[in-house]
Amino acid sequence: MKQIDKDRFHSKSMANSYDEMCQLLVPGYDLMQDALIDILKFNGLKNIVLLDLGAGSGILIEKILNKFPHATCYYLDYSDDFMSVAQEKLEKYGDRVTYIQSDFGGDWESKITINPNVITSMSAIHHLSNGNKKKLYEKCHNILEKGGWFFNIDEMKTISEEAHLKSLYYWIYHAQKQKETLSDDLLDSYNGWMEKFDSWKKRNVDNIYLPKSEGDDVHESFLVQVDWLNEIGFVETDIFCKYFLWCMIGGKKK
Ligand SMILES: C[S@@+](CC[C@H](N)C(=O)[O-])C[C@H]1O[C@@H](n2cnc3c(N)ncnc32)[C@H](O)[C@@H]1O
Repeated sequence: MKQIDKDRFHSKSMANSYDEMCQLLVPGYDLMQDALIDILKFNGLKNIVLLDLGAGSGILIEKILNKFPHATCYYLDYSDDFMSVAQEKLEKYGDRVTYIQSDFGGDWESKITINPNVITSMSAIHHLSNGNKKKLYEKCHNILEKGGWFFNIDEMKTISEEAHLKSLYYWIYHAQKQKETLSDDLLDSYNGWMEKFDSWKKRNVDNIYLPKSEGDDVHESFLVQVDWLNEIGFVETDIFCKYFLWCMIGGKKK
């Protein structure tokens, strides 16, 4: 059984259909992003300079640019297919967005000229091995402005193995039931994504106990990851929001 699907994001068809499919297939997609925006408002963040890691088609960045009219953003992703979709979508925001094409493990920090006061990521960091997740959290802590915030909304394990397994089954249930509400024009995209989802299911559910490596879905518990944030020096760390498999963890740089 091949556990890895490293090239999944280097795909034009996936990038082009991402916007309509992610909101349909990812449980709580908008809920988690909107909670993040609410936390930024609650904490009174002004003059936001945001870095989004694995920014994909730019959905979160577009929400930030609309909700915070003075915000500027760094877009970071390694996929040129996703970056082209984002560039087209975000063109109207002009130089409020700076694009960086890089792997998380690359030297992307050297391209950042203004230190961000918010770093975000959604559904991307869980593809790294645990060692590299922690290294990335450290890099984020180093590059953040003092008093800045880091948030990772991602697929994470929960308190017990049984509950984690149930959150994986919930995703399958959720994705399958979307078919009932689909309009005809979305059916082809949906079927294409469900084929990919089937291989995700084989790797992550049917073969859940096979070893995972970088590039696959390397789920780690939110408790362990919040501990890493504490060790690195983040304060006010928490799990701010959770919806089945998706957890938003984060913290503030002192
Ligand atoms: C599931 S998409 C999520 C996109 C966006 N964050 C969202 O939630 O809509 C994952 C994104 O992370 C990017 N990505 C995954 N692994 C990466 C890595 N090692 N370095 C840079 N980008 C990565 C992919 O190219 C893809 O655009």
